[in-house]
Amino acid sequence: MENKNKIIVIDFGGQTANLICRRIRQLNVYSEIGLPSDSLNNLKDCKGIILSGGPSSVNEQGAPKVSKEIFKLGKPVLGLCYGHQLMCQLLEGKVEQGKVKEFGTAELEIETEKPLFEGLNHTQTVWMSHGDTVKELPQGFKAIGKTSDCNTAAIANTEKNFFGLQFHPEVTHTPNGLKILENFVLGICKCKKSWSMKNYIEMKCKEIKEQVGDRNVFLLASGGVDSTVALALLHKALGSKRVYALHVDTGFMRLNESNWVGRQLEKLGFGNFHIVNAEKEFFECVQDLVDPEEKRKAIGQKFIDIQNRELKNLDLNPEKWLLGQGTIYPDTIETAGSKYAATIKTHHNRVDSIKKLVDAGLVVEPLNLLYKDEVRELGEELGLSEKLVWRHPFPGPGLAIRCLCSSGILNSEDLTNIQKRAEVIAKEFGLQTKVLPIKSVGVQGDARTYALPCVLIGEGDWKMFEKASTKITNEIKEINRVLRLFAPDTIDSVELIKATLTRKRISLLQQADNIVMRAVADADLMRDIWQFPTVMVPLAINGGGESIVLRPVDSMEAMTARFFPLDKKVLQKITNEVMALEGIGSVLFDLTNKPPGTIEWE
Ligand code: XMP
Repeated sequence: MENKNKIIVIDFGGQTANLICRRIRQLNVYSEIGLPSDSLNNLKDCKGIILSGGPSSVNEQGAPKVSKEIFKLGKPVLGLCYGHQLMCQLLEGKVEQGKVKEFGTAELEIETEKPLFEGLNHTQTVWMSHGDTVKELPQGFKAIGKTSDCNTAAIANTEKNFFGLQFHPEVTHTPNGLKILENFVLGICKCKKSWSMKNYIEMKCKEIKEQVGDRNVFLLASGGVDSTVALALLHKALGSKRVYALHVDTGFMRLNESNWVGRQLEKLGFGNFHIVNAEKEFFECVQDLVDPEEKRKAIGQKFIDIQNRELKNLDLNPEKWLLGQGTIYPDTIETAGSKYAATIKTHHNRVDSIKKLVDAGLVVEPLNLLYKDEVRELGEELGLSEKLVWRHPFPGPGLAIRCLCSSGILNSEDLTNIQKRAEVIAKEFGLQTKVLPIKSVGVQGDARTYALPCVLIGEGDWKMFEKASTKITNEIKEINRVLRLFAPDTIDSVELIKATLTRKRISLLQQADNIVMRAVADADLMRDIWQFPTVMVPLAINGGGESIVLRPVDSMEAMTARFFPLDKKVLQKITNEVMALEGIGSVLFDLTNKPPGTIEWE
């Protein structure tokens, strides 16, 4: 980037550098990530430098460092956490292991307001996460803020415009962190607000053109927000003929989804969008399975097979083709232990044949530094419709995981005893309850649970139901989800039905899901609700058809979630329409937060 009106963020590992850049973009200022090993020359064309946090200790061997010379460039420098300690060490202060490891929020008492804390109240909540502490300040520095455990939580050498913060202003747990960064970037570094999504698109198109040269790009488009926005950006940079997009219809998509996505893209002029219909193969590969993990594995493997086959059929010459992907930043930081890393994200982005292309530098990922909300903004700027841009996240195996299967037999502890304990708690809230004979996945700490749901029956407000739900899952470890009954009014009997993934069941779930999605769009709630799985469970209540569970949630990037208290009218409309479907006998609402539930049922 030739732009000189920018901040360079030196990356010391972990995830903080990219998040700092994102915050700087929120201030409409350009930023760029630099590496500790970059030459000093790279730092000359910027208005200020931020030394990021990182997982190392400055005193350990091999810890990443920058040259001391950066403090002679005459640029403002802000060190954050590890960067703050490194700055102190390089300028001959002292960093030691602290007596206490501070982790979590702390109260910062501000001692000197200007210029870094200008406009902030005297006491600020900040997010701390460190073991080492600055024990002696370098010459010319003084403390400008303290916490009860750290006398050097904020320091400054105002003459030279060097600042250090032990805490993390870039995370949302530091509520006024963005204001602190603003004071540094706009006030101290005097950056101009010249970043905008429009400029970003221009810059990215130029970069894409340079990388791709006279080759073409192949992209697998799921129809989700990320791959659609990546497609639109590549299309803008290279034109329709040079971008080939392939969509695999697994049969587990939403009602008519593949065709809908195809039509939307056609309307936008993406003429080179192709759909492979692989429904038959997908249904065949799961026809005898009931275990959720086995279903996932079979679908993941089938996807890989089909993808490899299609790539082979296309016979793309690597000298003429690059692979485009809609990978966004949170995808790249998914931990190795993440539940899905090996199944879907990997099968879309990193199958063997594609890995070879990645290793050879033949992959273009124009969204890989952006976060979801930025991708949506970019999509809107590129002219994609609100309907495409504000779609909810949808798992790769789609409705296959939201359609629970069963052998018809429950392997479980004695339900009578669990039922009795649940009744005691429900009664405290004036409710009745019924423990249901099926298990689903939940999460507690880092551990997966596979436990029972119970359903609450009665009247009350959402707050009361949430309290009852939390109490039940806290006190009865055999229960990991709590539901609320919307139809029928009471439960006389419940039967677990033998069921696998059939076209008939998926078609029924598609219709229920379609009713829900339409109701949510009509009530203008697509943006307020983060994700809304509609789940089909093979339980027949009072001798009726299968059960539908509604699972709307509010979430931050899916790590944790709260159930979304739907408006009564919307719920009533959904319930009436879903109950009218032939084969459905009850409608339940999931009251569980994550943890202890997960967002998806499976
Ligand atoms: P849970 O159910 O663990 O889900 O709370 C967290 C987020 O991950 C999505 N999810 C998947 N995404 N492939 C994906 O790409 C999958 O197999 C998969 N399973 C769950 C889920 O929709 C939620 O947003």
